[in-house]
Amino acid sequence: MDDLQMQLLLDLHRSNFRQGPGGDAETKRAMELAGLDRSRPLKIADVGCGTGASTILLAKELDAHITAVDFLPVFLDELHTRAIDHGVAERITTLNCSMDALPFAQGEFDVIWSEGAVYNMGFEAGVSAWRRFLKPGGKLIVSEITWLSATRPAELQSHWEAEYPEIDVASAKIGLLERHGYSPEGYFALPVHSGWRITIAPCRAVLMRFWSGMATATRPRLSSM
Ligand SMILES: C[S@@+](CC[C@H](N)C(=O)[O-])C[C@H]1O[C@@H](n2cnc3c(N)ncnc32)[C@H](O)[C@@H]1O
Repeated sequence: MDDLQMQLLLDLHRSNFRQGPGGDAETKRAMELAGLDRSRPLKIADVGCGTGASTILLAKELDAHITAVDFLPVFLDELHTRAIDHGVAERITTLNCSMDALPFAQGEFDVIWSEGAVYNMGFEAGVSAWRRFLKPGGKLIVSEITWLSATRPAELQSHWEAEYPEIDVASAKIGLLERHGYSPEGYFALPVHSGWRITIAPCRAVLMRFWSGMATATRPRLSSM
């Protein structure tokens, strides 16, 4: 992508409340279904946060401090302005950094949240690299483009395999999470109205969110990290 294309992309997206699929209702649903502990302050990283739709909602709904990570400073500036408007700026730290070079410590976070962003480094690379930043019992909440059926028209298959070779069905993604030491707790498909799915609905692909907990059953594996 050249400079002009990047500028056009930024101009298109910076004023949008969200840069990816989903909505506040889906962020809240994931928050509920993940069963986040609301009895104590949480430390959360929102990776690929964009202009902060999920970051700000998490800050409003939870007793939490959120590190909002994105590699585009213009999005982080917008997020900071919005956080002030929503009265949650003191709960959010912005971090201009690439998601594949996060400067976090092992076991630093209760929650890693990432909506519509992990594909930028690849789902498997992302979930495997980020796991070490979670505390034992910590939770990963992540969305990912996913097929909803085993077969689809060849043109759609070849298009998405060229664009994003990691695209797969939910069960494959869940298996991958298990292989990387997570204990998947569940997933749900984003509804049709929640953004870009409208574009891809005919191919039965959907951006799906699933949340995955490193619960008691997975703890023994932490020692081998
Ligand atoms: C589709 S947008 C989703 C933004 C936000 N999570 C939302 O749902 O509105 C993907 C985000 O990932 C960010 N991003 C892309 N590659 C990145 C990287 N290597 N490191 C950090 N952020 C990245 C983009 O700047 C963008 O804000």
